[in-house]
Amino acid sequence: MKKAFIVGHPIKHSRSPLIHGYWLKRYGIEGSYERIDVEPVNFGNFLQIFHEQGFVGGNVTIPHKEAAFSRIVSRTERAERLGAINTLWVENGVVRGDNTDVLGFMANLDLSLGTGWEQDVDTALVLGAGGGARGIVAGLQERPLRRILVANRTLSKAQDLVRSLEARGAAILEPLAWEDLDRALPDAQLIVNTTSLGMAGQPSLQLDLARAPARAIVSDIVYVPLKTPLLAAAEEQGLRIVDGLGMLLHQAVPGFERWFGLRPEVTPELRALIVADLGAGR
Ligand code: ATR
Repeated sequence: MKKAFIVGHPIKHSRSPLIHGYWLKRYGIEGSYERIDVEPVNFGNFLQIFHEQGFVGGNVTIPHKEAAFSRIVSRTERAERLGAINTLWVENGVVRGDNTDVLGFMANLDLSLGTGWEQDVDTALVLGAGGGARGIVAGLQERPLRRILVANRTLSKAQDLVRSLEARGAAILEPLAWEDLDRALPDAQLIVNTTSLGMAGQPSLQLDLARAPARAIVSDIVYVPLKTPLLAAAEEQGLRIVDGLGMLLHQAVPGFERWFGLRPEVTPELRALIVADLGAGR
């Protein structure tokens, strides 16, 4: 039996075990995927012993993604670019690390909007400058956009993010002061929130979406609640919306394939299962 894990701290609320559990059952694979709570001081040790404990690999989540990056030497090019690792597996006795968050975000945009959606987008506006924003900017850089604006409350972090990624793609990357957000909206055909604003228990993100272009796409990587106040306001305005759950579901695909040897499908039934669980507020 193959065993995989998700390691984080805290880890109780992770929905990943539900996702992988659904696929294991659906494909009749004898395997398991369990939550493991590891405090930051013990994370290095965990990386050294998980294979001996019978695990084939697993996911890494908050707050360990950057620590995994600095401790795992065998990394994919994508992980290298993002400076963070969320998926581990063992190859010829060596622990390897990848980052599938970006793949998840981009696959979800493509499936929700239809391929070629970039044709309507000249400028993308990314809100936030943490690890989530970094992944999304890197993903958008692989697409034919002319300009990507990065707005953050702490402007210096947006400037750092732009500086570290700008050499990698053709799009113009520009940091934007938080106060200038509303002024940039008329130019932004794609708006992505990666900040914690709008998450359950946090203040909501105040944006004057009436200023956004008529066909703008608004996306949020927050998925609790599934329809954040930002997405609700965008929908009311008649804009296209893409919620954060799709990203969570799609980032899980490459890990499952590596550990269990079969590429799983993100089905409406799987999505409904997670939506029901989120609704139950567990
Ligand atoms: P992650 O790595 O998951 O993206 P993070 O590094 O904690 O998480 O980043 C959280 C983001 O939410 C940051 O961009 C943060 O802005 P700062 O860099 O200025 O801290 C943003 N954020 C959190 N609370 C905010 C608030 N009240 N107003 C605006 N932005 C906020």
